[in-house]
Amino acid sequence: MKEIQKRIESIRKQLEDHNYAYHVLNDPVVSDEEYDKLFRSLVLLEEKHPEFVVESSPTQRVGAKPDSAFEEIKHSSPMLSLNNVFYESEARDFDNRIRQLVSAEQVQYVFEPKIDGLAISVVYENGLLVRSATRGDGETGEDVTSNVRTIRSIPLRLGIAEVPTLLEVRGEVFMSVKGFNKLNEKQLEKGEKLYVNPRNAAAGSLRQLDPKITNDRPLDAIFYMVAQVEGIQLAASQFQQIQWLRQSGFKTSLNVKCAFGVNECLKLYADLLSRRDNLPYEIDGAVYKVDDMDLQKKIGFVTRAPRWAVAHKFPAQEKATKLLDIDVQIGRTGAVTPVARLEPVFVGGVTVSNATLHNEDELRRLDVRVGDTVVVRRAGDVIPEIVSVLKDKRPADAQKFKFPSQCPVCGANIVRDEDESVSRCTGVMTCAAQIKESIWHFASRKAMNIEGLGRVLVSQLVDSKLIEDVADIYSLTVEQLSELERMGEKSSENLVNEIKKSKETILQKFLFALGIRQVGEATAAALAVQFKTLENFMQASVEDLSEVRDVGPVVASNIHEFFEEKHNLDVIQKLLKHGIKFECIDESTGLNEEFGLFAGKTMVLTGTLSSMTREEATIKLRSLGATATSSVSKKTDFLIVGENPGSKATKAKELGVEILTEEELLSILRTKTKTE
Ligand code: IVH
Repeated sequence: MKEIQKRIESIRKQLEDHNYAYHVLNDPVVSDEEYDKLFRSLVLLEEKHPEFVVESSPTQRVGAKPDSAFEEIKHSSPMLSLNNVFYESEARDFDNRIRQLVSAEQVQYVFEPKIDGLAISVVYENGLLVRSATRGDGETGEDVTSNVRTIRSIPLRLGIAEVPTLLEVRGEVFMSVKGFNKLNEKQLEKGEKLYVNPRNAAAGSLRQLDPKITNDRPLDAIFYMVAQVEGIQLAASQFQQIQWLRQSGFKTSLNVKCAFGVNECLKLYADLLSRRDNLPYEIDGAVYKVDDMDLQKKIGFVTRAPRWAVAHKFPAQEKATKLLDIDVQIGRTGAVTPVARLEPVFVGGVTVSNATLHNEDELRRLDVRVGDTVVVRRAGDVIPEIVSVLKDKRPADAQKFKFPSQCPVCGANIVRDEDESVSRCTGVMTCAAQIKESIWHFASRKAMNIEGLGRVLVSQLVDSKLIEDVADIYSLTVEQLSELERMGEKSSENLVNEIKKSKETILQKFLFALGIRQVGEATAAALAVQFKTLENFMQASVEDLSEVRDVGPVVASNIHEFFEEKHNLDVIQKLLKHGIKFECIDESTGLNEEFGLFAGKTMVLTGTLSSMTREEATIKLRSLGATATSSVSKKTDFLIVGENPGSKATKAKELGVEILTEEELLSILRTKTKTE
């Protein structure tokens, strides 16, 4: 090797070591200046001797060329998900099952934090990073190699002497909370979109077509498993493999521990939970894995998840913050919801500044006052709520809140039925808040889908009296719209086009758009199937209506009342005059294509699903036209199986009913309902 080549190689090695110390060990050995100096010397040498530039050089992390699209990569083996448990008892059930399966008194587990990011696979050939893919649908992912190369904690070449000919490792790409906050600050300065949480920011950053942009994003990655290895022999222990990964240059979690038996797992879980807020990145639980890989093989998989591992999820996040004020919001149906305005607080992965206080009873129960310190909870994607008040922190001047008896928007009386917890504004058609909300609902994506007609614009249109009801939307002109604040000629033209486009719809969306109380998406779909035309629906009696799936006597009478209101009939007539059309419905099934993903299919669920509850799955299936029933028969078209399916699965097999795993269902939903 030439002298100069040796020098280049030696600088690269030093840079890699520094990089490892900084990003993986979190223990830098040189100052940033020293690192930069060394880095620049390498850049200069490589410029002078381009023949020695290699892809794995630290100078080559950021590719010059943006991708035009991400290619698909088929995974060597499926990227699986984990089954979730939420309670200690369920974690013990998991352990009992494992102990039974392997006939052992105690099992050696590996305890790992469950990092809340995106799964990634990285492949090395002869020690060099050659490919990286996202999880995708588990079978096929997207090639994000150029972007992954920009993540400094991922080695471009392995840092061990004995390199495998082939190595595939899997882990999680994420963004630290600090990095996320910084990124959002920058986005705000640049007037660009803000990310809702670190996970979302990591996903958005990894999916940039230009690796230069990804390079500017504070992405990080932690690895937790070897998916393939050739050319060397690794210990058949999950724990030891993680140690090996760390030695090879990968960042692994410092919270990975050996746990003998479930009690140790649970202890570590409690400890991790108590430190959750102090960790630099978000975790949503812990993972318990059987350590011995020979046992793992023996225990095997159920559908799309290993049976030898489980994710013990953390409960919803809670944080204390100050209650600055209480407002009331008037919904589409007049429901009055008290809303807490909070000092912004980062909880459950997002910054929360508003939380619901539900209703008058809840206000009373909490005895909450303006100025109080309150505990805010946010679970998953649900609306944040206030769970308790820290009374000992109450200041002397904390103000009680008086629930209004008049609507703050229209002045009409607020009333509350004796048997209801909701208070409602009686203004209905004269209440600007209700009018605005119902117009916005009408235009929303799952209803008439008028893109660009959001809350702010609807509010402007109503305030300037350009529209009074939903039918007026169809009379709006480009000239009228262009006069509004922040509406240029082009966006006005686009909106008018969108409005025109929305005239061709399908019956279920129109019925949903009407905003009849308690007629959600799924009910609207069921009604459309039953009545097939708007005329039939409008003429249906309470008895006819009650026969429809999901429609009880209350909903039936809500529908009936809706059509007894002359104003509603007038608006519908006006809409029809504007040329609203419903796509033709297939006479034989009563369904049209868009609606009919599972149209007319009878589906049954069994076992525990990991990505949603059975109830959520049922709602989803119904909204797509399926009849979800509880027992398998000859009439069943599909059985969806989760973990631990019961006798239903056996019966389905006997009857030749088609079986879908949860993953298969999700992948169908993903590919067929992309517009959802
Ligand atoms: S193990 C066969 N370990 O959680 C092994 N996954 O629902 C399957 N995740 O897609 C995954 N931290 O992206 C495993 N320590 C960890 C993890 C982890 C986060 C993610 C992973 C996976 C999802 C499973």
